[in-house]
Amino acid sequence: MGHLKPRYTCPLMGIQLDPELVDAIRAAESVVVMTGAGISAESGIPTFRDELTGMWENYDPEQLATPQAFERDPETVSRWYDQRRANIAKCEPNAGHQALATLERWQTKDRGRRFTLLTQNIDGLHRRAGSANVVELHGTIWRWRCTKTGREREYRHIPFPSYPPLSEDGGLLRPAVVWFGEMLPEREMMTAQRECESCDVYFSIGTSTQVFPAAGLIQLAHASGARTVEVNPETTPVSNLVDWSLRGPAGTVLPGLVERVMPPTGT
Ligand code: APR
Repeated sequence: MGHLKPRYTCPLMGIQLDPELVDAIRAAESVVVMTGAGISAESGIPTFRDELTGMWENYDPEQLATPQAFERDPETVSRWYDQRRANIAKCEPNAGHQALATLERWQTKDRGRRFTLLTQNIDGLHRRAGSANVVELHGTIWRWRCTKTGREREYRHIPFPSYPPLSEDGGLLRPAVVWFGEMLPEREMMTAQRECESCDVYFSIGTSTQVFPAAGLIQLAHASGARTVEVNPETTPVSNLVDWSLRGPAGTVLPGLVERVMPPTGT
């Protein structure tokens, strides 16, 4: 965003990472990372908008991911989310998730600096990889909310005994995720905005940057003076605006980047 055009580097093709990017990350007092479905693609979890494989290529979000859909047909909606829970439970964090957890540990534990991982994903894989400061902007598929009392709790047992599942209070349970037309959780959104306003480097990883308000946070970070980096095998609406566009899969690009940024250990 600071340059006329981004500096493209493709680590897969053996092109060196821009040393200025490595220096910017090393110098950063505060790093913010935003992830989307693409970071979990290599774990076997489908994205939403990729051609052929994207979830919204095969399912209609209007029928499955809106409050109206749940009101109309809670059985179909809860069955679909339970199926997604079952699929996610079989998946493991990949090298991309792990690289971010490593970068966070180095930035916070080793250097006493800030690192915030904002995610649009509901799969919980960042925490499973060891990331600690995770802000789940779209909620999590592992928590379900009673529509009668508003109470939420974790449900790990798969499958649910009935569709829709019922809470202990007898209300219908819905996943504690943000559906189309719903507000993002206020506390999480405020944290995200605060961190974006004060970060030095902002990463946008594996997201098509099409769904707001999450998609707008990169602009906020940029306007607040952050250097911006995108990691994605495809172009997105922000590819031509970021300072560095790393064209490749997160599971390859991120371990390579983190290895370059962190000093070698054991010497
Ligand atoms: N590494 C990095 N990026 C990848 C990879 C990969 N291995 N594979 C695919 N991608 C990229 C795609 O090129 C695409 O730009 O991930 C992005 C996925 O985009 P979407 O499917 O639109 O997912 P996301 O941006 O997370 O969607 C936002 O939309 O339906 C909602 O609530 C849902 O949180 C989701 C939101």
